[in-house]
Formats: sequence, C-alpha cells, structure tokens
Amino acid sequence: MSRDGFGSKLGIIAAAAGSAVGLGNIYRFPCELGNNGGGAFLLVYLLIVLGLGVPVMLSEFVIGRKTQKNPIGAFKMLKPKSGWPIIGYMGVGCALVIMAFYSTVAGWTLEYIVKAVGNQFKDKDLATIEQEFTAFHDIGWKNVLWQGIFIFLTAFVVFKGVADGIEKYSKVLMPLLVVILMVLAIRSVTLPGAGDGLTFLFKPDFSKITGSVLISALGQAFFSLSMGMGVLITYGSYIKKDDNMTTSALSVTLSDTLIAVLAGVVIFPAAFSFGVQPTAGMGLVFNTLPMIFNQMAGGYYFCIIFFVLLAVAALTSTISLLEVIVAYLVEEVHIKRRWATVIAAVACMAVGVFASLSLKSNTSLTIGGKSIFDSLDFVSSNILLPLGALFIVIFVGWIMGKSKFFEEITNGGQLKLSLKGVIYFIIKYLAPIAIMVIFISGFIK
Ligand code: TRP
Repeated sequence: MSRDGFGSKLGIIAAAAGSAVGLGNIYRFPCELGNNGGGAFLLVYLLIVLGLGVPVMLSEFVIGRKTQKNPIGAFKMLKPKSGWPIIGYMGVGCALVIMAFYSTVAGWTLEYIVKAVGNQFKDKDLATIEQEFTAFHDIGWKNVLWQGIFIFLTAFVVFKGVADGIEKYSKVLMPLLVVILMVLAIRSVTLPGAGDGLTFLFKPDFSKITGSVLISALGQAFFSLSMGMGVLITYGSYIKKDDNMTTSALSVTLSDTLIAVLAGVVIFPAAFSFGVQPTAGMGLVFNTLPMIFNQMAGGYYFCIIFFVLLAVAALTSTISLLEVIVAYLVEEVHIKRRWATVIAAVACMAVGVFASLSLKSNTSLTIGGKSIFDSLDFVSSNILLPLGALFIVIFVGWIMGKSKFFEEITNGGQLKLSLKGVIYFIIKYLAPIAIMVIFISGFIK
C-alpha cells in the first residue's frame, strides 16, 4: 500500500511538534506543577525531558521509519509471532482513553472562544469568573456538545489524510502561539505580586520531591511529548529516508518544553497576583487567563486570538491521537478510511461523554474517589504511557539492537552522528532503569 509522505523536512517536525504542543503544555503542565510542589516539579521535569525525551522519541521514530507501518504492524514486522504487538494495541487503547478526557478540555476552548468574542469576562472579578467556570461544568450537555463538535472537527481533518491535513495547519499557527504567550508572559510578570509566582515556579524546594512527584513529572513529560503510545511510531513511518531524525527529535523536544515553561511563566505570576491557588487545577488556567486579559491593553482581541490558537494547538494534538486509532483500523482491520474515521470518532465520543459529565459538582461518576475525568487522565499518563515507553526502549535496545538502530538513525551511514553511542546507551540501560525506578517509586507511599 502506498503511504503519503510529509511534504518537507519541516513537515514532519511541524506535525510532530503539532502533536506534542497542545493542552498538555498550556493546561496540564501548570496543573501538575501546581499540585506537585512548584519548582521541585519543574526541576525533575526538565531532567526527565533532557535525559529521556530525545532517546525515547528517537526510538519511536526509528521503529516507525524502519517498518513504514502503524505501531501494531511495526512490531509484527520486526518481531513476528511474538507478544510485542501488544504495545501497539496498548497504544491504540491509550489513544482512546486520552482522547476521551482531552476532548473535554478541547471543547472548553471552543466555549471560551465564544465567551471571548462576546466580551463576557470584561470587568469581572475572580470570584465571578471562578463561579461561572464551575457553573459551566454543571451544564453537562453544553460540555458534551462542545466535545462532540471538537471530535467532529478532528475527524474531519483526519479523514482528509496525513500530508495535506496535518501539515498545513500546524506550520503557521504554532509560532504565532509562541508570540502570544510571550506577550502574555510580559504582562504577567509585571503584575503586582508576580514575584511570588516566579519563586514558586523556579525555586525548587527539594523536600517536596516524593515518589508521586517523580511519577507525575515522568507522566507529564511523556504526555507532553506525545511519547509512549505509538503516535511517534506512526509519524516516524512518514519521515523520509534522508531526514535527520535526531535533529527532528531534538527540535520537537526543545520547542515543546520551551512552550510549557513559557506557559508556566504566564500562569503562575498572574495566579499569585490575583489570588488563584496554585493547586486550583483546571481553574488555574481557565480562570487566571481571563483575569490577565482584563488587565491588558487590547485584552479583548488577545483573548480571542489566544483561545483560537489554543483550540488549534489542541486540534493538532487530537488529530495525532485519532490518527493512531484510524491507522490501526485501516491497516490492520482493513476498514476503509472513511468508516475507520467514523468508528474511531464515535468510540472516543462514547467514552468521552463520561469524562465530561463526571466534572459536574454533584457527580456520581467516580472511580475510587476520583472523577472519571481524573481517572482516565491518571491511568493514561501515569501508567500506560510510562509502560509503553518502557517497552519501546527495551525493544529498541535489546530486541532490535545496536546495528539496526545505528543504521536507521544515520540513514544507512550517510549521517555522521557523534552522539549515537551515548543515545544508544541511554536507550538500552539508562532509560529502562530510570522509568522502572520512577514508576515503582510512584506506588510506594
Ligand atoms: N502531547 C499532547 C499535548 O501535550 C497530547 C497528545 C497528543 C498525546 N498525542 C499524544 C499525549 C500521544 C500522549 C500520547 O497536548
């Protein structure tokens, strides 16, 4: 079967960055950081991203480009008649789980675009904005409706195919998001009392580093970089044979991390200035941001542009998630692309409804004391992604082996890569041990 390739070198970086940069950076990162001790979390997060980000990402790219297949097909081809394709199935399941709660928040970005256009935050104080956010969750059908619209939009783009679908959208708009975040960061750090927020973000309190902080940082790193479930195997399968995958992985990792930190610089100084608790979770972002726009010249327009860009960032991420499910249905179950897209979208929606409705204040949709939303988030990021990543690096390090790995990342010897030995060492020994240690520490109280 012939596969589309990405149109250019920038194409694959843009698409992988489009998958990586999303609500994970702007919404989830501040939430996790706020709930896990601020600066201590940031430090651990950066260490994990720098140490494991590029090697794990490269492992996925290598598997994908070598086999030119979806994750399940890839493992079947590299290790026939073995249990390894289970990683692929796990990835497809994980994509469904992430889609289910991710699309809830993605739907809110649409609601907030409408609110922004209607100038509905103007002159409101924090208490009112907070109360309206809660009230919005209590109108369950409205959340579900926006979620459905968002999933429909995603399905529409996925249906149009990889090359012209994903590439076009991500190239132009993501740099614009960075510019807006920079403007917001400047406004945020110049608010009265902003210094406390910067201290919270950048000054690590080492006594706060616990097993659960470690596992949260690990989960957030994989979540934010879209690693550990085969998204990047699928994308790797579209990378051209003469592209330098190492520099691609490096640029994606760095830009994703930069955007997350930038989001932190936007959120925390302002949150401390306005009196939003760093542990406020989703409110941290959705309530703080409108307050910042209220304090800005041209805030009305910035607010609209920001939420539009956030929606687009979320869309390029949901595209990559849905694509994993669709590619599986098309290539392994042999369903026509159109129907595969419909089935995948309906499945995401069917689970997603419960995630959305579980955020009502009087909800009974809980699992072990956590809302279904939080449970899906926890299971995917803190369990499935680390496990997926663990198996992927073990596969590349121990099953695929050094020579095949070197051959792939050097494009058959054409590229000089002085660090290839170090990268392979990390993949084979360091990454599996680090992931296992962190994973286990997360379950020891
Ligand atoms: N990385 C995206 C974000 O930060 C979310 C995402 C998209 C993702 N595809 C993924 C997370 C695959 C894990 C695996 O918003």
